Amino acid sequence: MRMYDLIMKKRNGNILTKDEIHYMIEGYTRGEIPDYQMSAMMMAVYFQGMNEEETLQLTMAMRDSGEHLDLSAVRGIKVDKHSTGGVGDKTSLALTPMVAACGIPVAKMSGRGLGHTGGTIDKLESFPGFTTGISADTFLKNVNEIGIAIMGQTAQLAPADKKLYALRDVTATVDNLSLIASSIMSKKLAAGADAIVLDVKTGSGAFMKKEEDAFALAREMVTIGKGAGKTTIGVVTDMDQPLGRAVGNAMEVKEAIDTLMGRGPADFQELCLTLGTYMLLAGKRASGKEEAESMLKEVIANGKALDKLAEFVAAQGGDSKAVYNPGLLPAASLSEDVTAAEEGYVSRIACEEVGICSLLLGGGRETKESVIDLSVGISLHKKKGDFVKKGESIATLYANDRDKLRQAIKRFEGTYGYCETPVEIPSVIKGIVE
Ligand code: URA
Repeated sequence: MRMYDLIMKKRNGNILTKDEIHYMIEGYTRGEIPDYQMSAMMMAVYFQGMNEEETLQLTMAMRDSGEHLDLSAVRGIKVDKHSTGGVGDKTSLALTPMVAACGIPVAKMSGRGLGHTGGTIDKLESFPGFTTGISADTFLKNVNEIGIAIMGQTAQLAPADKKLYALRDVTATVDNLSLIASSIMSKKLAAGADAIVLDVKTGSGAFMKKEEDAFALAREMVTIGKGAGKTTIGVVTDMDQPLGRAVGNAMEVKEAIDTLMGRGPADFQELCLTLGTYMLLAGKRASGKEEAESMLKEVIANGKALDKLAEFVAAQGGDSKAVYNPGLLPAASLSEDVTAAEEGYVSRIACEEVGICSLLLGGGRETKESVIDLSVGISLHKKKGDFVKKGESIATLYANDRDKLRQAIKRFEGTYGYCETPVEIPSVIKGIVE
């Protein structure tokens, strides 16, 4: 078999066989197939797509490219959660301590920023000293003792996805249903949880711009998860505007902390409560949605969720004082406001563009080797449906480099649209795929 022939086969719109897909993934994982050939293959898949069987085979080949984590030493039903990625999506930072405080063991594998979207690991590294590079033993011990542990993708678990994720990030080949489904499900299946709750984003800031595509992605992932014997639920959620008000690594950590203190933005709170409800139901911690929601609200009100975040951060080497004093998190030295060009109700926020502005400020990667600036980002003062006067501040951008700030401000200026009549505020939850 030759990679060249497989690239040509896919480029011409033909279907790859199980053996061909496994050959390609195994060869790439071992370093025998170079990045440039895999980039060409990813672009061919991007344009020609993959059918259900190819997507399943790609998932299984990536799952089996490394070890499978054995979570049998962890007591209880292990529930994992994964988002398809969005702008201002700091959900795992608040949600995992919430459900862990309700007794669900969270053994989670998270990723770094991808394209215009941020990643949980980058955000967590805003806590000085925090590391996801922990051994499997520490990981299991922490889940049992604290109820929560998060690790990055290691060379052992789904290494094919680790390599492909970094490659797709810089070759404009992220937003394809089969590539996203196989990327997410391969690592979720390798990570060994009993149940998986998927947050499938849709809208201008999501990889799936159209709602029907997001539902198709949710159905595909739920089918793969169930086929592998895991309880799998897909929650399709809004990403037509950034989630909450903060975009940027440390700034999102602060917003997640605020949320755990009961004063988070309404859309973000609603999302955490909904996903948390499905996690508690999947983990058989609650018998109904109402009970689950009141358990989640309780751990916010009594501070147990915030304490859980602090325990988790400390157990992975981070400075947990920053949980109670977010002023200790990285902060940018420069800031500038963007003002409304006209008066009216905010009718549109070009969400992907907002993500790109955060990237331009230094909060995301331009190449695989880029080092990101955790302190920079954007604070949105106005969201869809809000009324603004001409000249009123709609957002503040934070940076450490004047050129980057100027570039981002210029791009940000075109992101908001206004209209004269009141605008309906979009609901965060679009639907559930079970
Ligand atoms: N999240 C992932 O883990 N992989 C993707 O391809 C997209 C979002």
